[in-house]
Amino acid sequence: MAHSDATLQDKRILLVIAGGIAAYKGLDLIRRLKERGATVRVVMTKGATEFITPLAAGALAGGTVYTELFDREAEQDVGHIRLAREADLIVVAPATADLMAKMAGGHADDLASAILLATRLPVLVAPAMNPAMWVHPATQRNIATLLADGIRLAGPERGEMAESGEAGTGRMSEPLAIVAAVEALLAAGKADSSDNVADAKPLLGKHVLVTAGPTHEPIDPVRYIANRSSGKQGFAIAAAAAAAGARVTLVAGPVGLADPDGVSVRRVETARDMLAAVEIALPADIAIFAAAVADWRPAHEAGSKLKKDGSGIVPPLHVTENPDILATIAHRRDGRPGLVVGFAAETDDVLENAEKKLGRKGADIIVANDVSPANNVMGGAANTVHLVTPEGIESWPQLPKDEVARRLVHWIAGRLKPTA
Ligand code: CTP
Repeated sequence: MAHSDATLQDKRILLVIAGGIAAYKGLDLIRRLKERGATVRVVMTKGATEFITPLAAGALAGGTVYTELFDREAEQDVGHIRLAREADLIVVAPATADLMAKMAGGHADDLASAILLATRLPVLVAPAMNPAMWVHPATQRNIATLLADGIRLAGPERGEMAESGEAGTGRMSEPLAIVAAVEALLAAGKADSSDNVADAKPLLGKHVLVTAGPTHEPIDPVRYIANRSSGKQGFAIAAAAAAAGARVTLVAGPVGLADPDGVSVRRVETARDMLAAVEIALPADIAIFAAAVADWRPAHEAGSKLKKDGSGIVPPLHVTENPDILATIAHRRDGRPGLVVGFAAETDDVLENAEKKLGRKGADIIVANDVSPANNVMGGAANTVHLVTPEGIESWPQLPKDEVARRLVHWIAGRLKPTA
């Protein structure tokens, strides 16, 4: 991204740097934000000062760095309540497990936590911690609380940790990915820094197309190839989009779920039927491909039931590839929906595979989920998703599918480019 864009011109960012090895990336973040025209004010926790000096941060930011809750000079000049208000956005990078626990619990025993409790500004948090700390139920509980409070997450990402030999999720997003998240959040909030509550109907006037469920690919009149998808996540997304004010078309494979209120539902059976129904439903402003489409179908559908003939010879099952609905629509030159969202159901290397799918399928966003049997996603009520975009990855904690849907719809609405 060219910084000559000055995309953050005149934006005021309050950057909270917490203690962790990733604090050094906080210094780079200051530079990146300033390059884009932002004014950056820095607050450091005591822990952060163990890793980088306030002097270095202050030199880059071009101003005083605030560290103390009870600083006589600062109280006379800029106290924590003013720091909590005099900005367009607060970024916490890196956010340690401890600081997030304090935020979730409403603590205010140092300057950083006091500001975060006193603020009504949008807050973007970029966690950084050891993978074991990230997956700990306590951290995941705190993250769920913070998300429910309206706080936005950037990362963490998968990768090698500073501690030798440890890999997993917990690495702080790169400064440029955080900058992209800042830009997206400010664009979504349209400088509405006095109120962090999202617009209840952000998709009013939009047509949203959703695919959901499995497909059934017939072998003969009584048998078919299918998968374990229940359609719950896709149905929940369709319902959430309708609740957000959109006109919604849901193209659903064979599932036992009732039509969501206010949604126009087309029931289909095979991948080819699904593609045809999708084509008919277009144009759409947003297309969300949540269906678990069968990749292959029997090359020939037998006209009547295949019988055992007693010879012990098993009939061969030749398969052929189904059309890729997401890729077909995403690669359209004409009539491509403004925003194309795909899902990636993975059991291994979830984020890596999702990033590959983003490019290969031509989607704008891939919602990656780990469907390993241990996670009970297929058919279950909860989902843990990672939002993969060209700018980076945002990971959400495990949430009920309805809640994933609601947040996803609002998150997507925030990324819609304003129509002329
Ligand atoms: N998808 C689709 N049409 C297909 C296959 C997949 O529209 N024939 C869409 C799904 O709805 C989802 C995304 O593509 O949004 C990824 O689906 P997934 O099953 O994870 O990927 P595949 O393309 O099937 O790749 P693989 O099975 O190799 O992981």
